[in-house]
Amino acid sequence: MGEIRNVGVVGLGAMGAGIAQLCVEAGVDTVGREVSAELGEKARDQIGHFLTRKVEKGQLEQAARDEAVGRLTLTTELDDFADCDLVIEAIVEELEPKRELFAELDRICGPAAVLATNTSALSVTEIAAATTKPGRVVGMHFFNPAPLMPLVEIVRAELTADAPYETAYAFGERIGKTPIRCHDTPGFVVNRVLIPLLNDCIRVLDESRVTPEDLDTGMKGGAGWPMGPCALVDLVGIDVHVHASEALYEKTREPRMAPPPRLVAMRNAGLLGRKSGRGFYAYD
Ligand code: CAA
Repeated sequence: MGEIRNVGVVGLGAMGAGIAQLCVEAGVDTVGREVSAELGEKARDQIGHFLTRKVEKGQLEQAARDEAVGRLTLTTELDDFADCDLVIEAIVEELEPKRELFAELDRICGPAAVLATNTSALSVTEIAAATTKPGRVVGMHFFNPAPLMPLVEIVRAELTADAPYETAYAFGERIGKTPIRCHDTPGFVVNRVLIPLLNDCIRVLDESRVTPEDLDTGMKGGAGWPMGPCALVDLVGIDVHVHASEALYEKTREPRMAPPPRLVAMRNAGLLGRKSGRGFYAYD
């Protein structure tokens, strides 16, 4: 265990595509898996778009951009991960599909491969327990948007062995992230703090009758946030945030973890933020 030559990324939604982008930019051959060829192509187009923007802004050479895009292979088959040294999972945030996937990866991948989950609010230990080798399962929790946010939390589950854990840490550094080490507790480090904080922000909308625009102005101008809480929840996805809040509330029973009714109503109405074109703000 140690050298990572080929990486697999399962799920090329916003997070998976961002993680695949980081890998190919760092010179690592990457296999990306989506459930349909169309979704895979969509992710490749998105990666190509962001890398083209870097070329236009003088941050990347055209040849380096083309080489990076060329390092991404798309597939719909998990069997194509057989030769990967590291597989990073970024599928739907549901325990059972993740456990089923890890059981499959455990069967398909070589014994030395490291299996990582990008889960933000589920237990890495419960995911690892679906495999025959839980020692090689680790959390690699990236932040949205993954290519821009420096942090990756390297999460040690109950049975994670030292070598795969350090391999994941070193890989985080290799792709340009700042890794931090932590254990598998609900929300790990950042979401343990950020999710109840964002929920507080949304409750303040109703309590102090501030507008979303003014709340965002307040937290940017008065607390130094790079982006206001309403804009951030729109970016993360209101469905994703509600789901993560519910998962953390279920585990901790802390009232501040519970999703505010206003966000649940928005989720139920299909106001999901940027991805649906409307959340607290409207998007093109
Ligand atoms: N992928 C790749 N590149 C992207 C991108 C993406 N998703 N989104 C934007 N970019 C690129 C664009 O090309 C953009 O340039 P152009 O607009 O010129 O094309 C470039 O990045 C820079 O974008 P911005 O000028 O908008 O960058 P900024 O300086 O305004 O910073 C930000 C943007 C980094 C998102 C900043 O606003 C920020 O730090 N916001 C806070 C984000 C945050 O807190 N994220 C954590 C969410 S919580 C989470 O993720 C945990 C969880 O488990 C749910």
